[in-house]
Amino acid sequence: MPHLRLDRTYLDPFLSKNELEQLAGHVQHADQRLLAQHNGPGAEYHGWLRLPEQYDKEEFERIQRKAKELSGKIDVLVVIGIGGSYLGTRAALHALQDSFSDSLSREERGTPQIVFAGTQLSPRYHTQLLSYLADKRFAINVISKSGTTTEPALAFRLLRKELEQRLGAAEAVEYIVATTDGSKGKLFELAKAKGYERYLVPDDVGGRYSVLTAVGLFPLAVAGIDIERMMSGAAAALHDADSLDYTSNPCLQYAAARFALYQRGKLIELLVAYDPRFQYIAEWWKQLFGESEGKDHKALYPASAQFTTDLHSLGQYIQEGRRHLIETVLLEDSTSHDLPIEEIEGNPDGLNYLAGKGMHHVNQKAAEGTLNAHQDGGVPNLVLRMPELDAYGLGYLFYFFERACAVSAYMLGVNPFDQPGVEAYKSNMFALLGKPGA
Ligand code: PA5
Repeated sequence: MPHLRLDRTYLDPFLSKNELEQLAGHVQHADQRLLAQHNGPGAEYHGWLRLPEQYDKEEFERIQRKAKELSGKIDVLVVIGIGGSYLGTRAALHALQDSFSDSLSREERGTPQIVFAGTQLSPRYHTQLLSYLADKRFAINVISKSGTTTEPALAFRLLRKELEQRLGAAEAVEYIVATTDGSKGKLFELAKAKGYERYLVPDDVGGRYSVLTAVGLFPLAVAGIDIERMMSGAAAALHDADSLDYTSNPCLQYAAARFALYQRGKLIELLVAYDPRFQYIAEWWKQLFGESEGKDHKALYPASAQFTTDLHSLGQYIQEGRRHLIETVLLEDSTSHDLPIEEIEGNPDGLNYLAGKGMHHVNQKAAEGTLNAHQDGGVPNLVLRMPELDAYGLGYLFYFFERACAVSAYMLGVNPFDQPGVEAYKSNMFALLGKPGA
């Protein structure tokens, strides 16, 4: 049985089994083009497909060694990157660390705190970051595949200066790790010239498919996340995607179902979960699908909601607004953090009817009730069920969505691995800033 299952209960009223079966040829053809080397648009970026099995073991060990060595010497690791060089790490940390980890002391946490820079151009944020770091020992992991992206490059310039002023240029080198291309780009050149520890973003792995490379692995190892388990989970997802028949293959079924609903005129896919730990997984997922599929005026718009929180803000629209929505719901079947609800004498808050249950049970019933309500309201729901999310499950989820996204894009007839539209804002910004050659 796959680690993640597609529950069709709330999909069947909108899309019959027969309709999904009719898409078998189309979805399998898309998947086969993906797997056949040098086939399909963007085939030069197919490296992520086999990554969970074929990653660079020597680099993996180097990452673990350096992470351990650095962790003992610092309070904070500043991860500098944007888009695919940022969101996967953010997603994993938010999902797997204690919700209040950032409020704990270095000793209580046991590992360095991870903070982010270069994810935007806010002078306020970066000024405050520099003052936050003033009394802390910190290191930098600068991540940029191209090595030329403005946001991280500018943040790196600021933080490098701070580190060099504090430690001296020679010692600062020990506290800077660069994750970038292996032969080109400003960051590659700088890192080589200065002698920083360097990790590779492989040529054939694009930014938003890179969380299982050093891009995600190094900062996660510093944070104490079990990256070996994460890679094992990803390998299991790869195995399932490759080997399961179409009808029992959650990855292909998910790709086919969202494609069929899009063909029927649905315009927005909301990724929904019932625990705040999924918040940044949704941000990572939005980038993955938005940047991979949103081309040629096509594709579902990827959005997200956090339930039950957003049932008290977006719930009204989802129930009764324009019927252009589908929901993909991530549900954990169990939790190791349940809270029992006890009976209170006199029942002052009227909640004694829940006594003897756990909070997880209430959350599950909220999910079931919402699924029923949204089905009645005309919103198809694809439910992805999994055991409680851990490093293994997260690795599984990362690969599952990457594969489903690439297959979906091939079904739509777009190249999942380029992002020509991202250049538009950059060229306008560079022209306004007077960048030479812009
Ligand atoms: O998915 C992508 O390719 C992009 O989102 C990039 O990750 C993002 O633009 C950052 O690029 P780089 O890593 O080259 O700085």
